[in-house]
Amino acid sequence: MTDHAASTRRFTFSAGHRYWVESWSPEENDRFFGRLTVPHGHNYTLDVTVRGSIDPRTGMVIDLAELKRVVGETVVERFDHADLNADPLFRGRVPTTENLAIAVWELLAPKLGADRLWQVRVWEDPTLFVDYRGPDA
Ligand code: NI
Repeated sequence: MTDHAASTRRFTFSAGHRYWVESWSPEENDRFFGRLTVPHGHNYTLDVTVRGSIDPRTGMVIDLAELKRVVGETVVERFDHADLNADPLFRGRVPTTENLAIAVWELLAPKLGADRLWQVRVWEDPTLFVDYRGPDA
């Protein structure tokens, strides 16, 4: 019998954004997004969950120090104190919490393995979060 588990590590970063669809007129953007068209910042919380079998030797699903390093280098360094609208990942993609979760997934899946990465949860603030589990989920 092999035991499986899901392990989550939490990260935080602060980033700025505005909601704006380039192909819309300013009036259309204002009508749909209202004050969210004005640049502003959030203190994001990111929960990265990996799932898999527990290695009987180490007792771990993944080396959580390695997870911390990979997410730090790949996601936190990229987005912390960044203007999300200026990141190529958000070219033609409004930097909503949903799209941020997708962008984080796209950055992490090649590093951690799409089979091991189970869920990305992005909190925009304590009252709003989005879960993303990959393009096929
Ligand atoms: Ni916002």
